[in-house]
Amino acid sequence: MQRAIVRLLTCGSVDDGKSTLIGRLLVETDSIPYDTIESTKKIRRSGSTIASGEIDFSLLTDGLEAEREQGITIDVAYRSMSLLDGKRLIISDAPGHEQYTRNMAVAASRADIGLVLVDATKGVRTQTLRHLTICSLMGVNRVIVAINKLDALGYKKSIFDDIQAELEKALSRMQLPDVIFIPLSALAGDNVVGKSKNMDWYKGPTLLDSIQSWRPQAADEGQARMRIQLVSRAENFRGLSGTIHLGSFKMGDEVRVFPSNQVTKISKIIANQQEVSAAHDLEAVTLVFESEVDATRGDLIASSKEELHPSDRFNADIVWLHEDALIHSRSYLLLAGSSQTPATITRIKHKLDVNTGSETAATDLSMNEIGSVEIATDTPLTLLAYSQSREFGNFILVDRLTFNTVGAGMIRHSLRRGENLTYQKYEVNKVARAAQKNQQAKVIWLTGLSGSGKSTIANAVEKRLYAQGMHAYVLDGDNLRMGLNADLGFTPEDRAENVRRVSEVAKVLVDAGLVVLVAIISPFESDRRRAKSLFEDEEFMEVFVDTPVEICAQRDPKGLYKKAAKGGIPNFTGVGQDYQRPAAADLILNGQDELDENVNKILKVIL
Ligand code: ADX
Repeated sequence: MQRAIVRLLTCGSVDDGKSTLIGRLLVETDSIPYDTIESTKKIRRSGSTIASGEIDFSLLTDGLEAEREQGITIDVAYRSMSLLDGKRLIISDAPGHEQYTRNMAVAASRADIGLVLVDATKGVRTQTLRHLTICSLMGVNRVIVAINKLDALGYKKSIFDDIQAELEKALSRMQLPDVIFIPLSALAGDNVVGKSKNMDWYKGPTLLDSIQSWRPQAADEGQARMRIQLVSRAENFRGLSGTIHLGSFKMGDEVRVFPSNQVTKISKIIANQQEVSAAHDLEAVTLVFESEVDATRGDLIASSKEELHPSDRFNADIVWLHEDALIHSRSYLLLAGSSQTPATITRIKHKLDVNTGSETAATDLSMNEIGSVEIATDTPLTLLAYSQSREFGNFILVDRLTFNTVGAGMIRHSLRRGENLTYQKYEVNKVARAAQKNQQAKVIWLTGLSGSGKSTIANAVEKRLYAQGMHAYVLDGDNLRMGLNADLGFTPEDRAENVRRVSEVAKVLVDAGLVVLVAIISPFESDRRRAKSLFEDEEFMEVFVDTPVEICAQRDPKGLYKKAAKGGIPNFTGVGQDYQRPAAADLILNGQDELDENVNKILKVIL
């Protein structure tokens, strides 16, 4: 089945002649209403050299540029036109400047064709390389390099050849499967829609030809994929509906459903309310299976011949979209298709210099930066390499508190590490271990400033539990930092990792059936949320020991506030670095209340 839409992204700046080129393409393919064209014959910019009565093509698209320059919008602007075979071409135009890298990246992720403009009078510029790098990274299938303004240079072949040779060197480092170079003049109309008479030496396609000839990649033998959008049930009927993304499904085909990894056969295919024997990509269908398998919205159905494996560890490229930098060890929500799962960036390998394509070491990613990372998801996902499938190879990262989209990612490959592990179930389990101790296993997570009283309270609670014959254990931030966490400092990244490790240890101890008292500052809400997400609701209790920083500084049991005030500890919590107050603590203790009173409040929950 043919796709109805082809997406083209134009990359270049106004002075490269981008708006003139798109304007001319639209006019010469009859895509612009007559009266709009007439009005562009009458309006002139100051200093324009275009004769009166002729069309200023750039005016047809420049309204959008002007808007953007005034800072009204930095979004991608759209135009559209019909192609010969009835398909619709959607032309989007991403801003060219480096500060809009993220906008261009997002636009490129949806584009089939990238049109990169080079102003021949200026030659290859950094911007050209940046645009090619982003197109390559975002999986743009065909790139058309339009070498423009050759009319101003006597239509010389050598100029075109030199620019092409220079760009080909840079392209050898990128992964662009299909690059077409076209010499043209947007102003004079050479090689845009009609072949140029001024450049006999060029035998290749015009711009319009190279757009029209693009075809989506065909499925390989045996490939078939569909994401479930809806599960419908009736008596004796369970249908899984969605749009076939790639390949074809036939009656009797063996398929596998991910992530459950179960195999079954197709017993019925319904398309347009009729039973059919086969259905193909882009068709909306309902599949009925021979046997019951676990399948829900967002799951993937694929031909069992496909080599797909769920994994919870991936190598990925990430474009960072948010003002707050990406921090490794922090937990974000990963959205892929319609599935969502908490995920942690476990390692930032390097970041990409978009202007040169070179890689540099990095510990964080700021807005507009692109980096290569390792990511761990809490539940296994069946994601493909982005180079194989944009649909199943892309994801976004969302902040767990604000739900802001903070990053856009492309899977490079899954890491085998996670794949070869199987969770072993033991017959003596958490419930049995806790029952033997006559208690319910739990985590009491005490968060608060240094000196707020966390350790003091934990100590008193443990004593009381001990006296009652209960089995408890305190995980104390300072103590663990002398062993398990001795390699960690106090940057936000290290604190996130500190909280992650402590929460994982707490999980082991809860599994052992203990009451676990955690006393660590854990200053960041998203890190505490991640900790909480490891446990059942009734197993985890967040206790905020609320003591004003002035009081903590007066108490100063370890002399650290004094040191921090003198500049000796630049990132000391509450002084040089934030403490985020818990948004929804289960219990808030006033750190200035009597110790016994606070201890009783906690015991009331445990006993
Ligand atoms: S957390 O922020 O990562 O949760 P944690 O509770 O493990 O901190 O460790 C905090 C302890 O480390 C404090 O009680 C204090 O003794 C010590 N410390 C040293 N430097 C700092 C700092 N910059 N900020 C906070 N605590 C610090």
